[in-house]
Amino acid sequence: MFAQPLAVMPGFDVWPGFLDVAAQRDLVQAVFAAAEQTPFAHYRTASGKAMSVAMTALGPLGWTSDAAGYRYADRHPGTDRPWPPMPASLMDLWRRLGDADTAPDSCLVNLYCGAARMGLHQDRDEADPRFPVLSVSLGDTAVFRIGGVNRKDPTRSLKLTSGDVLRLSGPARMAFHGVDRVIAGSSSLVPGGGRINLTLRRAGAG
Ligand code: SIN
Ligand code: FE2
Repeated sequence: MFAQPLAVMPGFDVWPGFLDVAAQRDLVQAVFAAAEQTPFAHYRTASGKAMSVAMTALGPLGWTSDAAGYRYADRHPGTDRPWPPMPASLMDLWRRLGDADTAPDSCLVNLYCGAARMGLHQDRDEADPRFPVLSVSLGDTAVFRIGGVNRKDPTRSLKLTSGDVLRLSGPARMAFHGVDRVIAGSSSLVPGGGRINLTLRRAGAG
């Protein structure tokens, strides 16, 4: 049924409802169990501003940010613990929609509560942009914005609901994207409300 994604623009594909509710619940549970070891935190950008989205990570590398800037690190900054492993279901999802030959080494976990949002940005901290970015939406609906590879390119917005999977690859791998807002109360999947977004990546060289 989901063999054909919605091709929003070349290299930007969305599979609406790719994950069923049971798979969504399992992922939320796995994320909160992991966050007991490596808790969510509001990282600061190099300019010192705290992000509205709370973050943690799974897998060998986790994306973090502090006064020194953005980077991938092999330890959680608050606890100095290694990041918990990625659930097998995410590895499997990557094999199916990401890259069949090279495993992902990073899953960023974003938690959006209340007015949390994410400004337009490119994912450009990875060693090799030949690998796609796969993103899983869980919980409340997001108003997602996608543009082109230049910041000033026109953008369009689309709603991402729980279970949707999207992929940035090829000509869209470096497309600017962000989350304008999350529609509170649109899902009851995440305990306490809100939205979780998982981004699977190959951050180190392949
Ligand atoms: C991101 O670009 O890191 C997050 C996108 C999303 O939350 O859907
Ligand atoms: Fe991103």
